[in-house]
Amino acid sequence: MGKYIKIKTAAVVLTGLAWMSLHAAAQTCTPTTPDMLGPFYKEGAPVRSSVGAGYVLTGTVRSSADCNPVSNAKIEFWLVGPNGQYDDEHRATLYSGNNGEYKFESNIPKPYSGRPPHIHVMVMAEGFSHLITQHYPEEGVKSASWDLVLIPSAQKY
Ligand SMILES: [Fe+2]
Repeated sequence: MGKYIKIKTAAVVLTGLAWMSLHAAAQTCTPTTPDMLGPFYKEGAPVRSSVGAGYVLTGTVRSSADCNPVSNAKIEFWLVGPNGQYDDEHRATLYSGNNGEYKFESNIPKPYSGRPPHIHVMVMAEGFSHLITQHYPEEGVKSASWDLVLIPSAQKY
């Protein structure tokens, strides 16, 4: 009888631990690391999901609080074109979809001013802090999946 109780207790404890670890894993997402704005941001980029071809960035906008998708987030992208210069042809605004998803297509960014190739990203969504960051494509890679994880803004009292 004592042995049965021990096994049963162990099973209950293990089930509890498994549930807690699953629950904890599903509960929060690490916020996307902010990065420099840089000098080339311009407001009012046209709404479009493509400014070129060769590189496809996809992902989901999420809340760091619970990992839930954030729909209708405003995402702005800007990067150097194939000539290695920033210009208005390589800026875009798009909005995350109903499941927080986004897809942005561009040329493969070139190195600029001694910096590794990168795509600038700014994300704004109601109820969340603004995120300014950069995406760094891996060399030789033509697509990437990259979630944009936002921090809920401070509660108002
Ligand atoms: Fe840049």
